[in-house]
Amino acid sequence: MAHGLDRESKDLDRDTMERAYARWAPIYDAVCGPVFEKGRRAATAAAKYVGKRILEVGVGTGLSFQDYGPGYEIYGIDLSEPMIAKARERMATGAFPHVKEVSVMDAHDLTYPDGMFDCVVAQFVITLVERPERVLDECARVIRPGGEIILVNHLYSERGVAAAIERWFSKHAHTFGLRPEFPFQRLKDWADNHGGAEVVDRSFVGPLGVYSLVRFRKLGAGDAATPPLAAAG
Ligand SMILES: C[S@@+](CC[C@H](N)C(=O)[O-])C[C@H]1O[C@@H](n2cnc3c(N)ncnc32)[C@H](O)[C@@H]1O
Repeated sequence: MAHGLDRESKDLDRDTMERAYARWAPIYDAVCGPVFEKGRRAATAAAKYVGKRILEVGVGTGLSFQDYGPGYEIYGIDLSEPMIAKARERMATGAFPHVKEVSVMDAHDLTYPDGMFDCVVAQFVITLVERPERVLDECARVIRPGGEIILVNHLYSERGVAAAIERWFSKHAHTFGLRPEFPFQRLKDWADNHGGAEVVDRSFVGPLGVYSLVRFRKLGAGDAATPPLAAAG
């Protein structure tokens, strides 16, 4: 289904993203930490129910490390070397022994084997990547059957004043490494077309419910996707 958006957003390419987050890295925790805190925490809380081995895609500076504790095995990847350098500084404090490794890696090409993780979490990342469907394919590949992909993001308002403001803002946002024009339907379409994943929940979290928390489950062999409510009765 078309959403009026480029499937492959040329102005959010790898170079733009790396330049943007090289600028963000020194100030990210102070500026973005509080703004994203509730969304980030909601995602980590949901992930902890799924299993112990968790991959954070677009882990950034590792602000979420404190949300996990003993018994978990946290892996993190990020495209930005300066953001990962900050995450490594956090690990070096010794306060987060549950964080096993962080690596510079592109979410479009994860180097982990199939089924390695119980859960992949991506907080405020999916709307930024050049090819979101490719990233979701990769996330699905590295989780076990029954595992989950958990995303949190602001998703595009499709109607009303918020939609008009977002349309205006989106014209200026890409140079800052932001893409506000991203609808939930695009995520739903990915799951419907993937054949091995389903959306299990969308809830609204954070200040005034501005962020969407979206959970996908990876289907196992022989699992059927849960029928839509209208068809189930
Ligand atoms: C808004 S920050 C979110 C960081 C962290 N998840 C948090 O909630 O604080 C987005 C992060 O996604 C990373 N990112 C963007 N494109 C990426 C890609 N293709 N692969 C891996 N990381 C990417 C950026 O470098 C940045 O660190």
